[in-house]
Amino acid sequence: MDVIIEAEKLTKIYPGGVLAVDHIDLSVKEGEIFGFLGPNGAGKSTTIMMLVTLLHPTEGKARIAGWDIVQHRGRVRSVLGYVSQDIAVDEYLTGWENLLLQGKLYHLSPQEIKTRGKEVLEMVDLWERKDELVQNYSGGMRKRLDIACGLIHRPRILFLDEPTLGLDIQTRSKIWEYIRQLRSEHKMTIFLTTHYMDEADKLCDRIAIIDHGKIMAIGTPLELKRSVGGDLVSIKFQENGNGQREEIFTALKEFPLVESVKEKDSQLLIVTKDGNTAIPQILSRLHDMGAEVQSISMKRPSLDDVFLFYTGRQLRDEEASPQDFYRMRMALRRAKR
Ligand SMILES: Nc1ncnc2c1ncn2[C@@H]1O[C@H](COP(=O)(O)OP(=O)(O)OP(=O)(O)O)[C@@H](O)[C@H]1O
Ligand SMILES: [Mg+2]
Repeated sequence: MDVIIEAEKLTKIYPGGVLAVDHIDLSVKEGEIFGFLGPNGAGKSTTIMMLVTLLHPTEGKARIAGWDIVQHRGRVRSVLGYVSQDIAVDEYLTGWENLLLQGKLYHLSPQEIKTRGKEVLEMVDLWERKDELVQNYSGGMRKRLDIACGLIHRPRILFLDEPTLGLDIQTRSKIWEYIRQLRSEHKMTIFLTTHYMDEADKLCDRIAIIDHGKIMAIGTPLELKRSVGGDLVSIKFQENGNGQREEIFTALKEFPLVESVKEKDSQLLIVTKDGNTAIPQILSRLHDMGAEVQSISMKRPSLDDVFLFYTGRQLRDEEASPQDFYRMRMALRRAKR
């Protein structure tokens, strides 16, 4: 797969001296869903705005589809779609009129606008409501229309800044579905930001954890989880006496995949780098030793553990918080002006 987004030491210092993005390096492959995960003020929106050519980097370079974001702004813009964190649709127009306007901005022909407009509105389930004023849309519907507007010119890369901020769980999973569909049906590359752990975990192929303008870690959700520690396997078995417990304890400690073995509440707790491979081996060994296993379970470290490990603090809950709803309302208010 080809690299489609590349950044080298990309940096933004705002006038006044705020270092919002601090020498970040990253590369995203064509067709990937890449997530930027970080708390408020981490520098997610600033990074996206530089990549979509709306902000000038202070230092560093980035290329989108091979084009430099400073030297070839027009080229860069022609291959990307951008859905900002704030709602951008005009509420005094209907859903359809918003799309029409967007299509014209991209110099699409009336026929193209007609066919693609229907396609994108059907995708976000707004076709039936297209002739209503956006004023009457809910927050989730406005966000979906926003996404439709970012798609009408069929970009190769879609940048979504907090696509599900402040939305309810149902609308959020619906939006995840559209995003997956865009990738599978149109091979689109998706770069999104989020501060929702579950969104990053379930939706993204790879995640960069960003904090205070710096990338703290990059990898697949699984790689990141593995990087902070092993899987935890708990085993309970029937004792037959005769020192069998000690024998099993010693045997397990010698397994190459096993990092440590502890005994707690008559269970064995095993930390292993790779539970999926270790469990069958452990079971077969216990069977050979004549132990009767009563239960076995495995727990993986969560992305919460990963975030804590790399940033030293916890990210907020997965559910939309009152603060998110507040930000969503502020975004809607700004859109009205
Ligand atoms: N126009 C601006 N002028 C000065 N400082 C800014 C400006 N925009 C953002 N900042 C600062 O830059 C830092 C990064 O902000 P940014 O909006 O990129 O973060 P973010 O990760 O998108 O946060 P959020 O989750 O709240 O959207 C913050 O400290 C913010 O206060
Ligand atoms: Mg932001």
